[in-house]
Amino acid sequence: MDEPAHEPEIDERLADLRRRRAEAVDVLAETLLDMYLQGRRAAREGRPWPPALATAPAPKPRPVKLPKGPPRRVHRFAEQQDLEVVRVLLAATWFPSAELDEQLGGGRRLCVVLELGGVIIGAAVLDEHGDVGVLRALSIDPPYRRRRHGTALAAFVIRLAYEHGLGSVYAAAASQWFLEEVGFQHIERVLLPRAALHLPSLAKVPAAAYIFEITPSVNGTRTPRRMVPRTLSELLAQPDRVPADTTGPRARRKRQQVTEDKRDDAPTTR
Ligand SMILES: CC(C)(COP(=O)(O)OP(=O)(O)OC[C@H]1O[C@@H](n2cnc3c(N)ncnc32)[C@H](O)[C@@H]1OP(=O)(O)O)[C@@H](O)C(=O)NCCC(=O)NCCS
Repeated sequence: MDEPAHEPEIDERLADLRRRRAEAVDVLAETLLDMYLQGRRAAREGRPWPPALATAPAPKPRPVKLPKGPPRRVHRFAEQQDLEVVRVLLAATWFPSAELDEQLGGGRRLCVVLELGGVIIGAAVLDEHGDVGVLRALSIDPPYRRRRHGTALAAFVIRLAYEHGLGSVYAAAASQWFLEEVGFQHIERVLLPRAALHLPSLAKVPAAAYIFEITPSVNGTRTPRRMVPRTLSELLAQPDRVPADTTGPRARRKRQQVTEDKRDDAPTTR
């Protein structure tokens, strides 16, 4: 019987496959030999083998971006969850904290807070009766006092009163120093308009309290209305309070003039 005739094309492909397999075996053998030699060299040199796998470098920690400058002040209306903090802050004022949730008969009560870097550090209550407002309370957390936060909160409340169309805002306090500093003017009780005197928000104020008034302005600030200067520089800045110059050249000339006048007036004896 005759052997089946080989297709020349198939023979060619088989030969190609065998050649490739031989090449792959060579590469594998070469790789294994290379690894074996490297292992021996590492053992001779006392190096660990296989070498530790190179790990990806740890990502660099991103620098935390801190806001530039001092923390920002944010003024906003108090929300329900702020009321506990507000009550604690207002304990330093005459405002009865129980009234915080009460609706104001014939008007509306606004409660605002001052946040510094996300922390509430101040609170104020403004009662609005028609076009008249009463600043019932303003308080700053003690550790944050004397850093102008009180001034900023007062300015915000006054701006708010201006935006709400209030013609005047009254306030009562035990001392004059702060409210005058933010632009309020002390007003004697007897000079208060009858309508203001009978406002429920003012009627309850202790008799010893100072009453103040301010006309709200668009930017919420006014020049301080101090009655009494508090520092030497303030005293000197008041032209009518400048102490007499007793040492300068003008004073010397004046003294000299007075002496000469006295001499001229003196009776002459012959
Ligand atoms: C009054 C109060 C709100 C002031 O807050 P504050 O953040 O300290 O006020 P400021 O830093 O803006 O002060 C502004 C100016 O007021 C005057 N002032 C404030 N506190 C003062 C104090 N204890 N003694 C004298 N003057 C004072 C100063 O002239 C001050 O300016 P200065 O610091 O440059 O001298 C705060 O002391 C407080 O919460 N007190 C308890 C509640 C209260 O009395 N409220 C006022 C009645 S509504």
